Amino acid sequence: MVTGRRARAWPAALLAAASLTAAGAAPALASAQFAPGADGLGDPFFPHAGNGGYEVAHYDLRLDYRPDGARLEARARIDANATQDLSAFDLDYRGPRIRSVRVDGRRAAYGRTGQELVITPDAGLPAGSRFEVVVRYSGRPRQIVDPDGGIEGWVRTDDGAFVVGEPQGSPTWFPCNDYPTDKATYAFRITVPRRLEAIANGSLIERRRRGRTSVWRWRERSPMASYLATATIGQFRLERSRFGGLESVVAVDPRERKASRGPLSKIPAMTRLFESLFGPYPFDETGAIVDHAPKVGYALETQTRPIYDRAPGQPTVAHELAHQWFGDSVSVASWPEIWLNEGFATWAEWRWAEHRGGRSTARAFRHMLAVPADQDRYWDPPPGAVPDPSKLFADSVYVRGAMALEALRQRIGDDAFYATMRDWTQGHAYGNASIEQFTALAEARSGQDLDSLFATWLDQPGKPAV
Ligand code: TRP
Ligand code: ZN
Repeated sequence: MVTGRRARAWPAALLAAASLTAAGAAPALASAQFAPGADGLGDPFFPHAGNGGYEVAHYDLRLDYRPDGARLEARARIDANATQDLSAFDLDYRGPRIRSVRVDGRRAAYGRTGQELVITPDAGLPAGSRFEVVVRYSGRPRQIVDPDGGIEGWVRTDDGAFVVGEPQGSPTWFPCNDYPTDKATYAFRITVPRRLEAIANGSLIERRRRGRTSVWRWRERSPMASYLATATIGQFRLERSRFGGLESVVAVDPRERKASRGPLSKIPAMTRLFESLFGPYPFDETGAIVDHAPKVGYALETQTRPIYDRAPGQPTVAHELAHQWFGDSVSVASWPEIWLNEGFATWAEWRWAEHRGGRSTARAFRHMLAVPADQDRYWDPPPGAVPDPSKLFADSVYVRGAMALEALRQRIGDDAFYATMRDWTQGHAYGNASIEQFTALAEARSGQDLDSLFATWLDQPGKPAV
């Protein structure tokens, strides 16, 4: 059975059930307070991203993909906990046709409206209870176009798929609670033709030939935001190694191998530097996925194993590695706070250059400060006041965002600055935090009133007058 469009207000059926209960007739629902979970978490940019009434603990994804024909045959098993008495709940989903939905082993009614997959189990789910959702789906997954014109989601390549989800692409390939505040562990079991590789997050559990296919199993044991998941498919050479207590898997498209070797070889040294500045690397796995997907035009900090659309340079490798602390372990509490990711990762690029004997962060700051005010893409929007989702990845968020951190360092000095950074990564590890929490922490560690510094660098429009 497929339900119709879902109203956002209380559905009439539920109110009817309540009055039936009062009249003593058998209710359709366990009790009147059972209500549908919200269809979004109200993010200022993506109000329908995420859902209310439950939290996901674990995703178990089985994907079978054939690049010829671009067909995905999939099953997602989701372990979740109800946080309210639920009569129905949503998952975010932008993928191919749903074949069936089960909740706790029993067929559930479902419907699709916009990016919402609305699921109505045959019995209500009490607050505090654990439940299991199994969704089967198949067909051609698609990429989506973001408000800034960028593409994401399941992006087809000439030999497979480049799979990225920031900020809203993950529902193109699995149903999920697609918001950075709902982190979960993941298991992936990906079947591909045997000439191809399938690379996901976390540790490689098994790769096994099965007839004309190979089966790849990966597991991410640290909590992960859905936008950081990947299941990238194509021809890759794998290099496994260990350093500093970390397992590394580097997967490189043979066409990008030569150009990526140098920059990727710096990962251990970059990790050591960032650990000394920001605190311990947050995960037990590391590496990279270097694909050949030139139409994408950006890299993404997929958790434990950043993905590149081509051979990256050293600055980009440093940037995506720094995101493991800033973005992946400590994640934004809402999308407009993206400065906490991009400003920090860009500052870390500058810091790596300084460490290598190149330009210092202070000189990088002075260099950018010489950019005239009329080159407004570096200055607007201010990184702490991103006005709309088309500006999430604007140059100003990256560059002026890094300048904001450097201005902070110069004002409060290295000791207070790095104490702030380490407290930040330790205090919010595997969680979420806001810009306001960061500025408050910097004030506490430095003992200074930093309101005007942050207003100047994060909030005021136009080139800061300093
Ligand atoms: N977070 C990525 C980085 O800085 C960039 C990114 C993700 C992006 N999604 C995007 C850039 C969409 C433009 C459009 O490493
Ligand atoms: Zn970034």
